[in-house]
Amino acid sequence: MYEIYPRSFQDSNGDGIGDLNGITARLDYLKALGIDAVWMTPMFPSPQVDFGYDISDYESVDPQYGTMADFTRLVAEAKKRNVRILLDMVMNHTSDKHKWFIESASSRTNPKADWYVWNSGVPANSAGVTAYQKRFEHDGMVPPNNWVSGFGGSAWEWVPARKQFYYHEFYKQQPDLNWRNPAVEQAMFATIRFWLDRGVAGFRFDAVPTLFEDPQLRNETSTGGTNAQGDPNVSDEYTNNLPEVHDVMRRLRAMVGKYPGDRVLIGETYLPNVQELDKWYGGASHNELQLPMDMQVGFAKKLDAGLLRRHIAEAETEIHGSEPLFVFDNHDNPRSWNRYGDGVHDAAIARLIATVLLTTKDSALMYYGEEIGMVTSTPTRKEDVQDPIGRTGWPKEKGRDGERTPMQWTPGPQAGFSTNPHTWLPVAGDYKTVNVQTESGEQASLLDWHKQLIRMRRSDPALHTGTITMLDTSNPSVLSYTRKGDDGKSIVVSVNCTAAPQTVSLDGAGGSHVQTLLTDAPSLQRQATLSGIALPPYASWVARVE
Ligand code: GLC
Ligand code: CA
Repeated sequence: MYEIYPRSFQDSNGDGIGDLNGITARLDYLKALGIDAVWMTPMFPSPQVDFGYDISDYESVDPQYGTMADFTRLVAEAKKRNVRILLDMVMNHTSDKHKWFIESASSRTNPKADWYVWNSGVPANSAGVTAYQKRFEHDGMVPPNNWVSGFGGSAWEWVPARKQFYYHEFYKQQPDLNWRNPAVEQAMFATIRFWLDRGVAGFRFDAVPTLFEDPQLRNETSTGGTNAQGDPNVSDEYTNNLPEVHDVMRRLRAMVGKYPGDRVLIGETYLPNVQELDKWYGGASHNELQLPMDMQVGFAKKLDAGLLRRHIAEAETEIHGSEPLFVFDNHDNPRSWNRYGDGVHDAAIARLIATVLLTTKDSALMYYGEEIGMVTSTPTRKEDVQDPIGRTGWPKEKGRDGERTPMQWTPGPQAGFSTNPHTWLPVAGDYKTVNVQTESGEQASLLDWHKQLIRMRRSDPALHTGTITMLDTSNPSVLSYTRKGDDGKSIVVSVNCTAAPQTVSLDGAGGSHVQTLLTDAPSLQRQATLSGIALPPYASWVARVE
């Protein structure tokens, strides 16, 4: 699967902002890359405070990105190429400009008065009120507790018309829906059916662990220090991953399961461990999401063979036979190139990551530009920042613009992204060498590396459906594993996660005939045995063993 940030993929009408017709125009590229499905981040009408994650109408397309007819054409053209289209469904919150919220905020008695999380707060002079709460005093009242928005500031915003606060996990323009009200679930499920009826293959559910909050509104635990915006740091046990959310997931799965075709439910699930992740599949019952994202493997703090081995093995064995979904890059985190790069071996490290992503037993999710080695291009001046958290948090938090820069297609103007020199975010400085056109002509390019891996993954039974077994499991430097297909043939993979040369022997992999399929180490091209495999720094090696 391939994540597209529509603003940044391809501009078709010269306004400097990517759009749906741009995506349609690039379907042949995606097909040639070898992907099966595209997940588009939100393209619904939105004030774009959070660039689409603040939705003001769930059943339409933002004019910036095109029309419903453009969407229909995109789905149809994708289908011709066997590429499925997945949408991003934001259920935790709407935009404050959504008609539901406008109505809800208008009084305490309107029909939607209880659709969002409203609270009258507590008197500013009552016992236990902190100095922090007092910063948000209105009419003598302060927020009911110490909850802090994930994007900075109090999580409570005052509305004079109701003389009440509403809760927002994210920006104040993103009020949280009240999932304890059954009408909310009905309305949101109706929007999901709206798109299923229009042929989408499934959804990525945004921030889905945050649907519920503690009904008693208990204070979170203070964790010390302050965030980039200066708020006291607090835990999230009362606002994140509450058990009630699983009832919603089961009802969601049951509803979507009635639709023809294989529809898939993906979750944006940052969770503390694999036991929590397993719950999002429905554990042994397999009746919640098919693919909650595993964020342990791809977003580990550092590149470490032991850590990767442990997290991959956990995902393979502790989720009741469900399929893991691995991901190393998305629109919210600095690109893996920079997160894992050491500034010296970055290109080799990018190949290593692609190898792990595409040869383990997983569903693989890539982010646009990952395949060509796009880097994080963080703004250097506050006034250039688009992402609001980058402005309120500057310079501690510079926001997420860096990982959202335009896709680099060619060495030409605006990297082929747009005819308009004023692109919504600047094109990264390295586009003359890092782009699809240039890399398509290079044999050993990162793009070519991805294509080869994806081709192997599709065609080789061992990689496609084979089992996975970790090898050389006490090696702290090199991650090795074998995949074994029904036909008895195996693939062995070894990646050196250090800046020093390493030599491994993998005799446990079985078989004596070894043939290298893919490596970035010239010396391993002719490796013929499973012993004495000499891996240069950060080298990757994929071989067939018979
Ligand atoms: C998710 C999205 C992120 C967004 C947030 C609020 O984490 O990936 O981009 O800002 O939810 O919707
Ligand atoms: Ca919520």
